[in-house]
Amino acid sequence: MPDAPELPPNEWWRTAVIYQIYPRSFADSDGDGVGDLRGATGRLEHVRDLGAAAVWLSPIYRSPMADFGYDIADHSDVDPLFGTLDDADALIARAHEIGLKVLLDFVPNHTSDRHPWFAESRSSTDNPKRSWYVWRPGDRPPNGWIAAFGDQVPAWTRDPTTDEWYLHSFLPQQPDLNWDEPAVEAAMHAVLRFWLRRGVDGFRIDVAHAIGKDPDLRDNEPGRSHKEDWPSVHPRLAGIRRVLEEFDGDRVAVGEVYLLDQHRLAPYVTTGDELHLAHNFVFLNLPWSSERFRDVVDEFEELTRDGGWPAWCLNNHDHSRTATRYGWARARVAAMLVLTLRGTPFLFQGEELGLTDVPIGPQRIVDVDGRDPERAPIPWEPPSEAGPGAGFSTGEPWLPVHPDAEHLAVSVQAQDTGSTLTFYRELLRLRAATPALHSGTYRPVTAPPDVYAFMREHEGRRVLVALNFAPFARPLPAEAAGGRLLLLSTHADPGEGELAADEGRIIKLGDG
Ligand code: GLC
Repeated sequence: MPDAPELPPNEWWRTAVIYQIYPRSFADSDGDGVGDLRGATGRLEHVRDLGAAAVWLSPIYRSPMADFGYDIADHSDVDPLFGTLDDADALIARAHEIGLKVLLDFVPNHTSDRHPWFAESRSSTDNPKRSWYVWRPGDRPPNGWIAAFGDQVPAWTRDPTTDEWYLHSFLPQQPDLNWDEPAVEAAMHAVLRFWLRRGVDGFRIDVAHAIGKDPDLRDNEPGRSHKEDWPSVHPRLAGIRRVLEEFDGDRVAVGEVYLLDQHRLAPYVTTGDELHLAHNFVFLNLPWSSERFRDVVDEFEELTRDGGWPAWCLNNHDHSRTATRYGWARARVAAMLVLTLRGTPFLFQGEELGLTDVPIGPQRIVDVDGRDPERAPIPWEPPSEAGPGAGFSTGEPWLPVHPDAEHLAVSVQAQDTGSTLTFYRELLRLRAATPALHSGTYRPVTAPPDVYAFMREHEGRRVLVALNFAPFARPLPAEAAGGRLLLLSTHADPGEGELAADEGRIIKLGDG
């Protein structure tokens, strides 16, 4: 018998499934075609019924929307497009009433160029807020740094007011804050406290790995970006964590740590005084390969052996959906993987419906980085009943609804025992009811080629997960031989023996 696994500390976010709401595309209450907070509040039951424990809302703050809210002009107010502060309070209250926690997006790396801080900062070289952003004089950009959006766009723009260059790691409308300036850190901590006092349960921290830059402003070497993972990031994240710890109730910090090397990712969650969770983009970007997934999970398990809790996701508002990347059948296998690994799973609105990306005609492209397709609105009811807005909006949705909304709509899938929504609900229910799945140890299991199998174990109770990545049948791993009970399959009529093409199975082993 292996050693009895230690129970993890009793923090809610370890056993939770966290559901990302992209407010623009979730539910529109006022018919302007853009989702809003009242709309979202009215649909929170969907998240509860799915079995998630928390929602993370992409930015709701005042914004000119150059990057759809990731360009913030006032951190302490809600954008009128989304509603009011009262609406935010009402959403938080309603969520708590029905047992959901609420995470907001916190965007520390940059503000909008319309933020009053930047207006002051750009106004003169001796303005007290000049040092809140990164300014350099000169005839040419200070170095060759490239912005994240656009085709080789320089990360520096010359501002005519003072003829100096300011840094923007993303759009020119998103100037980078200067975290070397203590007043910036203090101001951003005040933002956190503002929302923590309003009752939010934590934050997803946008580009968390970017809030420290190369202090010498050197040109990037191959494989090393000016904004990735500089040592100064770590004490800054620890500072954010300390602010969260001023409040009771296990407030949680989840980082978007976009590093494609798990050795660099792990320290963000293993030291115990920085992030609680960090999204793993090595995992999110994997091709459909049992070996690749297994290797990445095993490596991260090894790296977090002495502490650190993984956070797995395969979808978010910046990435093509799994149903498009991997195909519909495999997307179910992918969901089973995300929801049965050791760690906290994050789901992106609509994946529970099996939504694919919705192509947008060239004349409709609205996002700077081609991310419209995965942001298509949620179809709540079939258009034949609710009109062309599919229950998302009574107006014209800002992005087209899915062409198959008639069948994919929530209300339709909720009635169908074979639907993707029903499958997700069963998967989340099983996970919640099975301590091995939400709190157990993880051990990879020897399996035939194309099959990724692992054991989860809690207090002697063992559950085997076997995922067939091949488009043809594959044998079950030998360890499944003692399996007593099929708990769930991605397939409606799973066989007794082999795994069918693109099938995932969860099997209970032994008598436990
Ligand atoms: C993060 C967000 C993305 C945004 C970018 C800049 O990657 O997820 O949507 O555009 O940061 O804030």
